[in-house]
Amino acid sequence: MIGEAHDVAVEPPSIILGIETSCDETAAAIVRDGREVLSSVVASQIDIHARYGGVVPEVASRAHVEAIIPVVAEALAEAGIDHVDLDAVGVTHGPGLIGALLVGVSAAKALSLAWEVSLIGVNHLEAHLYAAFLEEPDLEMPLVILLVSGGHTMLVVMEDHLRYRVLGSTLDDAAGEAFDKVARHVGLGYPGGPIIDRLSTNGDPEAIRFPRAMMSDGWDFSFSGVKTSVVNHMRRHPDTDVGDLVASFQEAVADVLVTKARRAAREEGARGICLAGGVAANSRLRERVREVCELDGLRAFLPDREMCTDNAAMVAAVAWHRLCADGPSALDLGAFPSLRLPTI
Ligand code: KG4
Ligand code: ZN
Repeated sequence: MIGEAHDVAVEPPSIILGIETSCDETAAAIVRDGREVLSSVVASQIDIHARYGGVVPEVASRAHVEAIIPVVAEALAEAGIDHVDLDAVGVTHGPGLIGALLVGVSAAKALSLAWEVSLIGVNHLEAHLYAAFLEEPDLEMPLVILLVSGGHTMLVVMEDHLRYRVLGSTLDDAAGEAFDKVARHVGLGYPGGPIIDRLSTNGDPEAIRFPRAMMSDGWDFSFSGVKTSVVNHMRRHPDTDVGDLVASFQEAVADVLVTKARRAAREEGARGICLAGGVAANSRLRERVREVCELDGLRAFLPDREMCTDNAAMVAAVAWHRLCADGPSALDLGAFPSLRLPTI
């Protein structure tokens, strides 16, 4: 059996259990036909890691082990279905923390064997790209997608289902990482993104002009410079209003991201700009994408905030598309911490 695809014929329509454990959320969801979310359960470990100021991999793995079975049970109960109604189990198998990924992959393999359903390995980055399709399954392509999370910042052109080109990515910090590091330096807590987003509503985004690195230079990004500028500014001017400081930082990050996405949409003849990943929950980024799309006659696709951050519904959505296109994965499916987005 090991090394061979688990041979269970699945024809759409199908009901898929998605499992996500790549970082600090243990999540399970039930999705019908890759688009209809019957349930989506997320057990966050934020409180466990907050005291360390970031995710501790070993602690994350242990918390996933404790949470995975109750979370899967809750997803089935919320969807009002039994495991016999399932056609497949889709699981994130990279990129992410190796110990955390292994918990989800091992659980998915065990359930696939015990319940005699197909197993599908899902790329976490591809899952983020599909979050918008859960709300709007008929999104028109080509699309420019800004995938901005704690671990990644990528400018992607999606030409069709499962067909992507990566135009650029970050050369240093991911956008979410910059939010988290700035928040830590300023003593605001973890994770920094939502805190900075909230505090910025009371600040002036024009108060301090932070650098916009590589704004009109190619497709790649760099966020470590703006992070250092914020830290240095705070050192030199300790009386700066924190609202002004973080609003100005947030403005600089949003400015670079949106300027590049807008230019990419023009050059690629895209129908719209879509946001994906945890930072896509950012209010100012969403506002700026809405503004430029309106100006340029493009559609703005902004998934619900719960769908932007890590969840298993987006994993089940990709699992369905991959199952239809490529069939199931083999039962010796591995976990890959540095898995890359499959491109054309
Ligand atoms: O996609 P995600 O949940 O996990 C990864 O795959 O990385 O993204 C988490 C990241 C964190 O860096 C967090 O600070 C950031 O997304 N984030 C935000 C907001 N909500 C979450 N960043 C800016 N504004 C937000 N509202
Ligand atoms: Zn993620």
